Amino acid sequence: MDLVIGSTGATGIIYTVRILEKLKDIENVNTHLIISDWAAANLSIETPYDIDYLRRIATYTYDYRDLSAKVASGSFLVDGMIILPCSMKTLSAISNGYSDNLIARAADVTLKEGRKLVICPRETPLSPIHLENMLKLSRLGVSIMPPMPGFYSNPKTLDDIIDHHVMRVLDQFRINICNEKRWGGINNENR
Ligand SMILES: Cc1cc2nc3c(=O)[nH]c(=O)nc-3n(C[C@H](O)[C@H](O)[C@H](O)COP(=O)(O)O)c2cc1C
Repeated sequence: MDLVIGSTGATGIIYTVRILEKLKDIENVNTHLIISDWAAANLSIETPYDIDYLRRIATYTYDYRDLSAKVASGSFLVDGMIILPCSMKTLSAISNGYSDNLIARAADVTLKEGRKLVICPRETPLSPIHLENMLKLSRLGVSIMPPMPGFYSNPKTLDDIIDHHVMRVLDQFRINICNEKRWGGINNENR
């Protein structure tokens, strides 16, 4: 499986790190990473990691400005795209088909080719513009998955919360990275 991973300048860049770490360990999954300028800035603001680390754990990395990259074309076959985290700016670009960078273009290609697109928008509070952009994309079949913690899995640490969201995102592609933290009823012994 080939997945395009877009990382943008919304807070929560640790989610990009974690999803790449999880996918790195899965056989037959290639990640095609695109990092925006503000995602790169947030990586140093919010985490101890650097861009070289992200490049090492991704299978392929592309320049955010290179609109000639393979993932800018529908003729390059991939299975889908995940944008985690997704800024309101990138959400708007995708919703309006304004493809002036490689993340917005790859998302536009994902839509036009009828492939799976998962967007994890992050902002609070949400304005009507943000909500309308999400609704428009949801109606086109995009999975809108804001990183909202679920407390039914009894998270003990921030890592538990991050891992749970990454698990739910990868569920969209039927990639199962964890069975322990799934809801199994009130008497579930995993609780
Ligand atoms: C520390 C930091 C946190 C930010 N958090 C958010 C956020 O949660 N959501 C958002 O929409 N924009 C956020 N922004 C603003 C975006 O980075 C900005 O709109 C940028 O133009 C997004 O561009 P990109 O989508 O190409 O990465 C944040 C910026 C900084 C510096």
